[in-house]
Parts: sequence; C-alpha cells; structure tokens
Amino acid sequence: MVGYAFMGAAHSQAWRTVNRVYDLPARARMALICGRDAGKVADAADRLGWEAHTTNWRDLIARDDIDVVDVCTPGDSHAEIALAALAAGKHVLCEKPLANTVTEARAMAAAAATAQAAGVRSMCGFNYRRVPAVTMMRQLVADGRLGVIRHVRATYLQDWIVDPQFPLVWRLQRDKAGSGALGDIGAHIIDLTQFVTGQRITGVSAITETFVKERPLPAGSSGLAATVDGAGPVDGHGAVDGHGPATGTVTVDDAAVFVARLDGGSLATYEASRFATGRKNALRVEINGSLGTVAFDLERLNELEFYDATRPAAEQGFTRILVTEGEHPYMSAWWPPGHIIGYEHSFTHQMRDFIEAVATGADPTPSFADALQVQLVLDAVTRSAELGSSWTEVEPALATVAA
Ligand SMILES: NC(=O)c1ccc[n+]([C@@H]2O[C@H](COP(=O)([O-])OP(=O)(O)OC[C@H]3O[C@@H](n4cnc5c(N)ncnc54)[C@H](O)[C@@H]3O)[C@@H](O)[C@H]2O)c1
Repeated sequence: MVGYAFMGAAHSQAWRTVNRVYDLPARARMALICGRDAGKVADAADRLGWEAHTTNWRDLIARDDIDVVDVCTPGDSHAEIALAALAAGKHVLCEKPLANTVTEARAMAAAAATAQAAGVRSMCGFNYRRVPAVTMMRQLVADGRLGVIRHVRATYLQDWIVDPQFPLVWRLQRDKAGSGALGDIGAHIIDLTQFVTGQRITGVSAITETFVKERPLPAGSSGLAATVDGAGPVDGHGAVDGHGPATGTVTVDDAAVFVARLDGGSLATYEASRFATGRKNALRVEINGSLGTVAFDLERLNELEFYDATRPAAEQGFTRILVTEGEHPYMSAWWPPGHIIGYEHSFTHQMRDFIEAVATGADPTPSFADALQVQLVLDAVTRSAELGSSWTEVEPALATVAA
C-alpha cells in the first residue's frame, strides 16, 4: 500500500478484516506500506498492521513477493505508481478519482487493458458501490422494478472548509488534487448514479465556484507543497492542525453544480459542495422511474427507501427497507438481521470483490476504463463551467482508450 493516512487507514482496516469475514480463494498478507516520512510510516505500519514499511514506493514494485499494489495517495501520484505497478505485473487497486487529468486516466486505462491480457487486474476505489443498500438499488433497477428511469438526483455535501481560515491543504491545490469538490466528492456521485442506473452521462451543463480564493498556508509549511506529512494530525480531509501567517491561492472549485443527460434518456442533477454548512458527509441519491422510486442517504446507509407504484393505489407509499438480511448484498457474512453495519464495511466489501476477482482470474469493477469515463465527465463539467455553462458532450471512454 502507498499512503497511510485517511484512505490508508480505511483500506488497512479492510485488508485486516476481509479474510476473517469472507471465505475467499486467497488470503491477503499486508507486506509493505509506503509513506514519505520515515517515522510516521513506521508508526503507521505498526498501528495499521503492516509487516514492513518504506519511504520509496518503488520498493513495492521491486519485490517479487508482492502481488497487489494499493494506491492511497493524492491524485498527483496515482498515474506514476499505477503505471509502474501494472508494468511490473502487479494487480492494482487505485483510489478515486483515477487521476488528475484525462490524459493520465487515458494512459492508465490503456495500461490496464494491456495488463489485463497478461492476467493482471486493476480496479478503482469507488467504494460506495459496495454499500449493500446501493448495490441493492442497482439490482432493483436492473430487475425492472423502477421501469423506465426518468430522473436521477444526486448530492454530495460537506462543510469542512466553510471557515476561510481553514488552511490550504493538498485538496485545495489543483496540481495535487486535479479539482476540488468536483473530483473529490462529485466523482463519487457520478460513479454511483451510473452504476445504479446502468446509464452513462452523455453531456452536461455546469457551474462551479471557488468561494474563498486565498487561504493560510498550513503551519510548518514553507510553501504550497505542504501536505500532511510532518505537519500535524490529519482530520480525514488531509487537513492539518493550525496555519501560518502566509497565504496562498485556492486553485480548485469549492462547489460544482451541473445538469446532465444520461444515455438511457434520464435527466439528472448533481451538486457537490464543501460549503454546505452543517452537512458533514451527506451523500444522497434518488432515482425516479415509471414504476417506482428508490432513495439512498449515506447518513442512514443501512436503509433504502422504495416506492413501488405497481402496488394497489390504497397501499402505495414509501417503504423503508432495512438492508441487513442475509439475502441482501454482502450481508450474509456479517451479523443477524437488524444488526447494522457502517462506512468501513464498504471497503471490506471492496477488498472481498477485488481478492475474489484476482484469485479467480476475473476482471473487477469499476475498471480503470470505467474510472476513465468518470474522469471524462469531470472534464466535461470543468469545460462547461469555463464556457459559461454551455452544453458539453462527454467524450466516449472506449474511443479514448483505443486512441
Ligand atoms: N473512496 C473514498 O471514499 C475516499 C475518501 C477519501 C479520499 N479518497 C481518495 O484517496 C486518495 C488519498 O486521499 P486521503 O484522504 O487518504 O489523503 P490523505 O492526505 O489522508 O493521505 C495521503 C497519503 O498519501 C501519502 N503520500 C502522498 N504522496 C505520496 C508519495 N509520492 N509517495 C508516498 N506516499 C505519498 C501521504 O503521506 C499520506 O499518507 C485520494 O485519491 C482521495 O481522492 C477516497
């Protein structure tokens, strides 16, 4: 694994747990973890359960006994690490968004396609697909229970940078993060809605805004290159304790709002913001079809709201389904019905599916090609916003991979 902070911890929890919960054809051994600060990565290895640690990610690539590389770094290093790992025949799990640019994502998808021919697997970490209620939403749509999908409504709202004194961490720097709320949380709802509906976004009209354009540099940093290493405890957003007197320019969006068309004929709205005061990690999706509606709220992730319009009129109404039964996706390995699960389980489910695919010679999803398509949507949103919200078509992913 490369990176040991927020996602490093979440993925480590999943690697530690997955074989104890699921009966799988292969067992994960947590061999080597990489970070840039020697002392901190040593502590992380000890705390998170890794056998060894290094400050050079190329050590992972060089070792013959390492089969899988898990990329949990900011987007500016995804392409370099993933490309080197695939070229060395390592299976790769890479955090989202796949890359910082379409060019990088295109190279990664092409490398993944080449590696696939040699039996090397790759997957992007859109973990919310593996929340059982979200997987169930997809099944309801695929089984025709919603009929023809007309509307997709998705929001992903946070508020961790409402304070203008919040420091200029890597997530607020385009060269590190690629984009702001759009790529960080907007990417999740783009992937999730396309996964659930089985439809792809074909075009968008967008507005984006950076509400606070200058922010203090993090304490202990000498410039914009400051990241969490050596700069204090993280808070889950790559944030640090305190800031210094100098300021720097925010180079990403604070919020992105767009309308979209999907290739199955649905109209969609998306909102991703880090300025939704009071909303901490509010991911909500509602899908309206000719025969019904489903709605999901991450803050109540064990539940699904389902309106079945085929029931007799007198019995119609939203049903709250508690997605904890053994027959619900992923749930048979956990607890008795009604004993709920949480955020971290989505990562354990992600590792389950990844290990199973690698061990059985199948291709895990979302593939790098799927994640490239998300990147193309992000790119279309950015271009539309730059062009005064003009309608912007999303380039087809397959054509891009082949190019
Ligand atoms: N799936 C999700 O729900 C989810 C949630 C948060 C973040 N993410 C994604 O995970 C990735 C990491 O985000 P995070 O929140 O964990 O960030 P973070 O700031 O908490 O951690 C980043 C880690 O990467 C390490 N790092 C950075 N550059 C490195 C390099 N060149 N070599 C070795 N280590 C390096 C840092 O030392 C740190 O340990 C991003 O792509 C982000 O978008 C996904």
